[in-house]
Amino acid sequence: MNLSPLQKARYQYTPKLPGMLRNGIAEICVKEGAATQSVADQDKIQALFPNTYGKPEITFEKGSNTSPAKKQVVGVILSGGQAPGGHNVITGLYDALKALSADNVLYGFKGGPSGLIEDDYVEFTDEFIDAYRNTGGFDIIGSGRTKLETEEQFAIVADVAKKKGITAIVIIGGDDSNTNAAVLAEYMAAHNTGVQVIGCPKTIDGDLKNDDIETSFGFDTATKTYSEVIGNIERDANSAKKYWHFVKVMGRSASHVALECALETQPNICLISEEVAEKKMSLSQIADYIADSVEKRAANGDNFGVAIIPEGVVEFVPEFSILIAEINELLAGAKADAFNELPTWAEKYDFIKAGLTAESFAVFDILPQTIQQQLFLERDPHGNVQVSLIESEKLFSALVADKLAARKAAGTYKGKFSALHHFFGYEGRCAFPSNFDADYCYSLGYNAAMLIQYGYTGYLSKVSNLSKPAEQWVAGGMPITKMMNMERRHGEDKPVIRKALVELDGKPFKFFEANRDAWAVETAYLYPGAIQYYGPSEVCDLTTRTLALEKGE
Ligand code: FBP
Repeated sequence: MNLSPLQKARYQYTPKLPGMLRNGIAEICVKEGAATQSVADQDKIQALFPNTYGKPEITFEKGSNTSPAKKQVVGVILSGGQAPGGHNVITGLYDALKALSADNVLYGFKGGPSGLIEDDYVEFTDEFIDAYRNTGGFDIIGSGRTKLETEEQFAIVADVAKKKGITAIVIIGGDDSNTNAAVLAEYMAAHNTGVQVIGCPKTIDGDLKNDDIETSFGFDTATKTYSEVIGNIERDANSAKKYWHFVKVMGRSASHVALECALETQPNICLISEEVAEKKMSLSQIADYIADSVEKRAANGDNFGVAIIPEGVVEFVPEFSILIAEINELLAGAKADAFNELPTWAEKYDFIKAGLTAESFAVFDILPQTIQQQLFLERDPHGNVQVSLIESEKLFSALVADKLAARKAAGTYKGKFSALHHFFGYEGRCAFPSNFDADYCYSLGYNAAMLIQYGYTGYLSKVSNLSKPAEQWVAGGMPITKMMNMERRHGEDKPVIRKALVELDGKPFKFFEANRDAWAVETAYLYPGAIQYYGPSEVCDLTTRTLALEKGE
């Protein structure tokens, strides 16, 4: 492997553990809290998880280790999209297992959950692990999006575990993967396999958080990476004074990433999907909102600006969701063939006009032609529109350009509008983890090993008090069932971990809301700069603005 100077230096970094885990394995004892209940639908969740429901919260403390001596053979998987720090979860898990006993074994199953089913694995050694310490990426074993959710799959996993003598499985994933971890834990307990299952909260989207999980790992590094580049773009915009930059940032559904980037960089505009849905904003209203900022800034001679667009925003625009549903219906089954056979876009356009309701056609008709075509051409294997592929940054800049043209004709706007587009997503998912993520992830992994050794199953590794220095972090575990409620998914009622959307009465949004009108007109940009791995703690160990505001700091 070719090593950059930073990678070599990061190998030497020692992640900071919570104070209570710093005294050595022999000095970690457990405190059990009261029995827990799910956040809603208690009776239903309890009935579905008779063996793992209602268990107590766990906190680790300094004190004699009373866990039974037991050889551990642990399997770990990475599930879903990459998030900085995944490697450190594995190195923390490995180090704790080896500190417990040199005989303990850690297997990494390759390519995500499918690796467990296919029994495709690697056994970690010191040399292997050392090459991945404090590095970004999931390339240590790869990841995948196969869902581990059926009884047949669980039975195969149980067989693989039995064959290898596996005592515990650690699933590093988002809300869906950890929901499935809870179901797997229940299956393993119900079938007396002796296999424990522990989850770790991952996703750059930041939407796996709740009263117990303060943040998912990867959110800190990813948002810092995007914010660095957005800040650089702001400075370029303020230097050249001739472009409006439309920046789409990743985050499949919730707008936590966009909001955090806005708090870090103070752009002129940041859309928040949850607010768009709450206010039932139309595309035209959103375009007017952005155009107002362009017009006011132009009146001050500032024909430039920066707008942040969350990846999932169009799905939160009510009229757009209806349009998508109608298009899916319009092209269901054989009707897609009739559409595809039409030779020209003009004929396709007439087909669409005849098939949509007047309201939806009106929405369709204001879209730029490239977006109209994207809606019909790029569909998933089931024929559904792939909303995530819609270039919403281009959509909104085109709609704003139309608004400005109308305002120019009416004589209210006299500026110049020239737009550039960016999408930041994959750039942030495999960055070297910030010190925060390096420390947090290592602690999550270390902690997972302790939960295993103390015999717990169906728990999410939990590290809290994260806005404080690591010394004051609190390590423990929370039953996953505590975070669950029943939701309708694919026509069925299912127990799931509640996904966290941006709360419009939460402190991060309130702070943004109180300032955004000024930011829309002034040039109040903040330039956060690159992630700093070395230097003063107030620069290097800085947490996200979201977490700091949520914690009242
Ligand atoms: P996870 O929920 O698995 O963490 O992935 C989140 C995410 O990074 C989203 O932000 C993005 O929309 C999606 O993955 C992209 O998926 P893919 O990597 O399959 O293109």
